[in-house]
Order: sequence, then structure tokens, then C-alpha cells
Amino acid sequence: MGILEGQVALVTGGARGIGRGIALCLAEEKAKVIIADILEEDGKKTVSEVKRKDGEAEFSKVDITQSDSVEKMIADAVRRFGRLDILINNAGIATHPAWCYDMSYDDWHSVIQTHLYGSFYFLKNAAKVMREQKYGRIVNISSIGAVRGASTQINYAAAKLGIVAMTLTAAKELGPYGITVNCIQPGFIRTDMTTVLLAEGEDKYIKETPTRSIGEPSDIANAVKFFVNPASSFVTGVVIRVDGGISLPLGEMEKTLWLIADSYPQSK
Ligand code: NAI
Repeated sequence: MGILEGQVALVTGGARGIGRGIALCLAEEKAKVIIADILEEDGKKTVSEVKRKDGEAEFSKVDITQSDSVEKMIADAVRRFGRLDILINNAGIATHPAWCYDMSYDDWHSVIQTHLYGSFYFLKNAAKVMREQKYGRIVNISSIGAVRGASTQINYAAAKLGIVAMTLTAAKELGPYGITVNCIQPGFIRTDMTTVLLAEGEDKYIKETPTRSIGEPSDIANAVKFFVNPASSFVTGVVIRVDGGISLPLGEMEKTLWLIADSYPQSK
């Protein structure tokens, strides 16, 4: 028996990458999972994967930037399943790297619209349902770029910090109704979004990361599992980094100390 037996979970951007990892994890805990994504083929593949592992999932094609479609999607889901217990606001995009003075208005709008508007559309409509049923778990996916800044991605960093503000505010407003709202800031996770970046600099990231690794979608799914656990009812308004420690301050001097320590013989 899983910790989410009888619950209904909705994962935006669940067709691939981090969202897929979260969908698989929630299904393993026996939630019925709705994968809301624009990528139909990948979404259906993830559904098949869940079913092969004896889980329950279905795909719902939706563009999260369209408030009408989001509203309709959630209403349909509630009609079909009778409730909505978990919302994971995960879908997202990144545009080509550009300095702030060169970034096009289109790139600014599309990223803000997807991350910030899209997450809000889902949060607003899910909160209505959860408030009625006096139970809910919402997890918003931000990024370490929200707090560190993200060179060449001012649109992305701004949207992701907006998601933090949305989390804190919604946690305050929805707490009285048994709804928790928390936020995860992933570091570098191996997905389609980071393929190009990692192809260029995987070794550099690994060297600068205290865990000496790149994250996997399952690392984020594990943090999600903690927040959505019914037993985590006193945990709300929390923003955690899941990044192997890469956002800890690390100066050149400390890196030199790492090198010196590495060059000493191992202590017995
Ligand atoms: P990904 O590109 O592999 O997956 C994103 C998913 O969102 C795709 O399935 C895509 O179709 C869906 N999506 C995008 N726009 C949509 C729209 N308008 N309507 C419906 N679905 C839409 O990316 P990844 O890496 O899995 O990212 C997931 C989340 O994690 C994003 O919010 C991203 O910003 C965040 N993140 C990722 C990091 C990483 O290193 N991969 C680091 C920090 C945050």
C-alpha cells in the first residue's frame, strides 16, 4: 500500500524530464496521476510506463498558458475522479541564452507566461477544489536561478522568483483549509532542458558541486514525496534547494583548499 492510496494528483509537464520522474513516483505511492502536458506522444509514453508498473495514470493535453483550457481541464478531472489532492506545478520552458539588453520581448513574455501565469492558473483552480474538500498538497517547482540569478536568462530567473512569492502567499492563504503549499528549487538535473548545457560543461558542474554529481529527476521526486505526504501537514511555505549543494557559496580559496585536501594521503 502506498502513502497516497485513493488520492488524485495532477502533474504539469509530466510527459518527460522532472515531471515524468514525479509522476512515476506519485503513481508508485498509489495516487491516480493526471499528466497535463502539451507533448501528447511523450505524455502517453509516460502513462504506459506507469501502467506497466501497476500504477494508474492518464494523459490530458493542455497548454498551461491558456487559462480557459486549464480551468476546463481541472473541472473535467474533478468530474471524473471526484477530487484533486495534489498539484505539482512543474511545466516550464527556457529560451536561448541572451544578455538582458538583447533579450527579445517575445522571449520575456513566453517564459513569464509559461512559468508564472501557467502555475498561477493551476494553483487558483486547484485551490478552489482543495478548499472545498479541506485537503490539498501543492508543490511549485522554482529553480536555484531564482535566488542566485541566472546569467543570460533574466526571464527565467524572474519567473522562478515569482513562483517563490506565489508559494509563500498561497501557503498563508490556504493553510486554514488543510492545504500546504511548498516549493522546490532544483539545481542541474539531467533532462531535455539541460542537454545542451551539460554537453558543454558537465565536468565543470560536477567539480563545483559538493555531491560531485548531476541531479536526476528522481532526486526532485523524492523531495516532492516528502511534501505531499499526508503526514507533512505542518510543513508549509517552505522553499528547499535540491541541488547537490551547488548553490552554497564557494570561493576560489575554498576550491584551492579542496585541491590541497585531495592531494594529501587518505587518513586511516
Ligand atoms: P523538460 O523540458 O524536460 O520538461 C518540461 C515539460 O513541460 C515538457 O514535458 C513540456 O512539454 C512541458 N511544457 C512546457 N510548456 C508547456 C505548456 N505551455 N503547456 C503544457 N506543458 C508544457 O524540462 P525539465 O528539466 O523537466 O523541467 C521541469 C521543471 O523544472 C521546469 O519548470 C524547469 O524550469 C524546472 N527546473 C529544471 C532544472 C533542470 O536542471 N532540468 C533546474 C531548475 C528548475
